[in-house]
Amino acid sequence: MKISIIGAGNIGGNLARLLVKAGYDIALVNSRGPASLKSFVDELGTKLHPLNLEDAIAYSDIIILSIHWRTIDSLPVINVPGKIIVDTTNPYKADGSFYDLGNDISSSRVKEHFPGGNIVKAFNTIWFKHLAESGNTNLPMDQRRVIPIAGDDSDAKAKISRLIEEIGFGPLDTGSLREGSKIQGIQGVLYNRQLTVKEAIALVKKT
Ligand SMILES: NC(=O)c1ccc[n+]([C@@H]2O[C@H](COP(=O)([O-])OP(=O)(O)OC[C@H]3O[C@@H](n4cnc5c(N)ncnc54)[C@H](OP(=O)(O)O)[C@@H]3O)[C@@H](O)[C@H]2O)c1
Repeated sequence: MKISIIGAGNIGGNLARLLVKAGYDIALVNSRGPASLKSFVDELGTKLHPLNLEDAIAYSDIIILSIHWRTIDSLPVINVPGKIIVDTTNPYKADGSFYDLGNDISSSRVKEHFPGGNIVKAFNTIWFKHLAESGNTNLPMDQRRVIPIAGDDSDAKAKISRLIEEIGFGPLDTGSLREGSKIQGIQGVLYNRQLTVKEAIALVKKT
């Protein structure tokens, strides 16, 4: 299967490494163009495909978005009917504080850029070093480090849950995009916490 990743930094780059290791062909995009991604090809080989944005969108049905939320308007509006858009973003300002979105969620802006896409919020709660290092496929699911996911399309969530399992983490469905995003968001109970699936379930139940 093929996956595209927009953003080749801390999160996008490490997801590319983990997913290539899991056997996927990965299209990777950054802001400076495919030639600047040569080091990823040197490291990961022929399963890593540096592409421009348009080609990467066409390349697969799962697109992981991992750029800074505040720079989302650097992307065009792209029709992606039926594709899954995995939103890893958090609404931080450049100074490290975050935008108060009131009752809204950060994925609303992502949705505007990808009409027709099924948005799944995932990989936004975990620090990139933990993402790189704490997956373990040998552990039973409830003892793995949790990666919560939220979304409105159950098929899309099932597909992303499988990916999370394949790279050694434990998925936890936090509900609809709106409700789950509150739990996973910067002020939510699962944000930036080192929890197993079992611990995360207990914490969500308690709140
Ligand atoms: N860092 C973490 O531990 C962490 C954890 C969870 C979630 N997140 C979230 O994940 C997202 C990415 O964070 P990060 O730390 O990985 O950022 P990062 O290391 O700064 O990487 C950002 C990447 O986005 C690329 N980019 C920017 N604009 C682009 C565009 N228009 N088209 C294509 N690529 C573009 C950049 O390209 P160039 O390399 O060419 O500049 C860079 O590769 C953020 O929303 C952040 O809140 C981060």
